[in-house]
Amino acid sequence: MKITMIGAGYVGLVSGTCFADFGHSVTCVDLDQRKIDALLSGIMPIYEPGLAELVASNVASGRLSFTTDLKAGVAGADAVFIAVGTPSRRGDGHADLTYVYQATRDIASAITGPLVVVTKSTVPVGTGDEVERILRDAAPDAEVAVVSNPEFLREGAAISDFKRPDRIVIGTTDARAKLVMQDIYRPLYLNQAPLLFTERRTAELIKYAANAFLATKITFINEMADLCEAVGADVQDVARGIGLDNRIGSKFLHAGPGYGGSCFPKDTLALLKTAEDHDVPSRIIEAVVQVNDSRKRAMGRKIIQAMGGEARGKTVGLLGVTFKPNTDDMRDAPSIAIAQALQDAGANVVAYDPEGMEAAKSVMPGVTFKSDPYAVAEGADALALVTEWDAFRALDLAKIAKTMNSPVLVDLRNVYKAEEARRHGLRYTSIGRPTAD
Ligand code: UGA
Repeated sequence: MKITMIGAGYVGLVSGTCFADFGHSVTCVDLDQRKIDALLSGIMPIYEPGLAELVASNVASGRLSFTTDLKAGVAGADAVFIAVGTPSRRGDGHADLTYVYQATRDIASAITGPLVVVTKSTVPVGTGDEVERILRDAAPDAEVAVVSNPEFLREGAAISDFKRPDRIVIGTTDARAKLVMQDIYRPLYLNQAPLLFTERRTAELIKYAANAFLATKITFINEMADLCEAVGADVQDVARGIGLDNRIGSKFLHAGPGYGGSCFPKDTLALLKTAEDHDVPSRIIEAVVQVNDSRKRAMGRKIIQAMGGEARGKTVGLLGVTFKPNTDDMRDAPSIAIAQALQDAGANVVAYDPEGMEAAKSVMPGVTFKSDPYAVAEGADALALVTEWDAFRALDLAKIAKTMNSPVLVDLRNVYKAEEARRHGLRYTSIGRPTAD
């Protein structure tokens, strides 16, 4: 199969590279000349474990190429995937479809034969209909089918998620498009990944429903964590106790500082807008968005409380700033609101992150970045573990306690045990678990 991927961002680059690794011939097209130049010289625009190696081996085998020339990329392709960004539109939270529709118009002017156009970007229900309308208007004689094929990969685990998906959702009723999509995913199908064919609008909604449900699950356990703190229960045991029920499942029940990233915040907002537009308000998702938003700043207050209620003139160290480990992505990271809340209360904030410091500099003004976790702890009045990078899982707690001005550890990811932290001389607070005093 000859596949063209429009957009060499997270989804486009990972999907395109994995398709090439299955044996397809893939061209990734991006308008950003600098990004394409960097990719051509082996430099990845994002940090994703294993990606650089996979790109290199598939480029070397001749199955993967990069270009800014959309026309040449689309010529002769069996399928073109649209994997461009759909950010929140400023002001109203709707998904901004400018890039999707522009890509569609560009594809329309480059069609050379029968083509399947696939939306992989997360797009609101009905977008496929509009993509089809644009294509039909611009290229009335072309044999095109429009398919929705949402992507469920997670940053930091993107390649394994792509290669071992729980399911593949394909929204189309067009017989030819079904065959093309079956051929594209055949390598995964042989590994027993269920291929779920649905109507196009249903596939579009499945993506939003999945992300909104996961965001709800996280927000639910975060509220349970607050209740655990109030009644003296342990949220990790509560999560285990409910998660062992197969109907609930144990995943996405880790209490923390609130979800962030490029997907859950944006997609929950966009789903709310779709629901409103159709006069079907979603109170559950409304509550999830509000609870999660206020939780991030509340984590700043939790740190201040752990320092005795006063932050002015004190120094707080943050371990981890990215929204989750194994990424350099800072979009909607809880650390941003936490640092802001601390600074508003008069604290001086220092931080370290294994991959995210470059991206963090522009979104965390006034924060001083250090070269390692111990430098962050030195002289601090509180240390908060914000992102659960592996590098923070076996810290020398005794050394940290000794060099801090006041040995307060606020573990927002429940990485450590209270008893262990206390034994090393730290005053320890975590999320939804009894403190060790
Ligand atoms: C999420 C979904 O998990 C993917 O299936 C989806 O494809 C992707 O969005 C997308 O729409 O593109 P991602 O944003 O990369 O993936 O990251 P997650 O691992 O889902 O984490 C999101 C946030 O939830 C992070 O801030 C994480 O710390 C938080 N989280 C996750 C928790 O606080 N607790 C948990 O138990 C799980």
